[in-house]
Amino acid sequence: MALLVSYKQMLEIEPALLYEAFKPEFDKLVIGTLAMPINLPGTNYYFGFQGRKNVLKMLRKVIAERRASSATHNDMLGDLLSKEDPKHSLLSDEEILDQIITILYSGYETVSKTAMMSIKYLHDNPKALQQLREEHLAIRKGKSPEDPIGWTEYKSMTFTRAVILETSRLDTIVNGVLRETTNDIEVNGYVIPKGWMIYVYTRETNYDPLQYPEPFTFNPWRWLDKSLESQNYCFLFGAGNRVCPGKELGIVKISMFLHHLVTRYRWEEVGDAEIAKFPRVEAPKGLHIKITKY
Ligand code: HEM
Repeated sequence: MALLVSYKQMLEIEPALLYEAFKPEFDKLVIGTLAMPINLPGTNYYFGFQGRKNVLKMLRKVIAERRASSATHNDMLGDLLSKEDPKHSLLSDEEILDQIITILYSGYETVSKTAMMSIKYLHDNPKALQQLREEHLAIRKGKSPEDPIGWTEYKSMTFTRAVILETSRLDTIVNGVLRETTNDIEVNGYVIPKGWMIYVYTRETNYDPLQYPEPFTFNPWRWLDKSLESQNYCFLFGAGNRVCPGKELGIVKISMFLHHLVTRYRWEEVGDAEIAKFPRVEAPKGLHIKITKY
């Protein structure tokens, strides 16, 4: 779902092509990030480069086809290739490819893993699931199953937002932020010279007991205090002028997913899921659930 939505925004494509040809290569690229940088056959890092090479090959083909045709396309790639907008025509094909990969990558694992972990936390916390379900059933009242959700209804999903933020806090998908130092910076007696690339590790701030009492407990209610989300120490989506531009899009996607899940289905976990949280959040053998109609 997460990849399909991003992909459809970026370029119109047949779902079959996405799942059969593109996704397996893109998954290799994703696994190659947060991997030990050892570029030898058999390592995730190596597979990451192979995946990227194959993804680029497919995307270059799409760009070449688009350039050769006069058809217009109502997607982001159509905008990026548009000759009418002088801002975009300044981008080379390589820069356009980087833009595509950045957007597809950033909105994929972040959204899918947060959605997966929210299923786990809601399953383990029936009180939270009950409150979430009530919020969504109230929105569905008087609607037929096909009726879409409007903006005002989305904005009324306050508990859903709290569940998503609490899930993101406990299972930090993005462990930190990348920055370049603009001055020499002294930290605990060490100097980080100007111009260095640094990875500012923000993950542990999510477990600070002063900011989040009982930090390892799933407590979405803490986020109903609106000021918590806007505090300077809240780095779930980064900070400053590089703050995540997809924050609201990500929250909308997960909210819609939860809306359809909790209003239509119940689920039970099958077996004990093994969940790894570092260096990336994952269920190596899958998070298996049995779904029944609600
Ligand atoms: C739960 C979902 C998401 C989480 C937790 C998340 C988290 C983050 C974090 C922590 C950063 C680093 C920010 C910084 O350096 O200060 C970031 C950057 C970014 N995110 Fe997200 N993100 C999410 C969803 C999305 C989505 C849906 C998109 C859109 C396609 C997106 C696009 C980006 C981009 C393009 C950047 C790089 C921004 C830059 O360096 O200027 N993210 N995200």
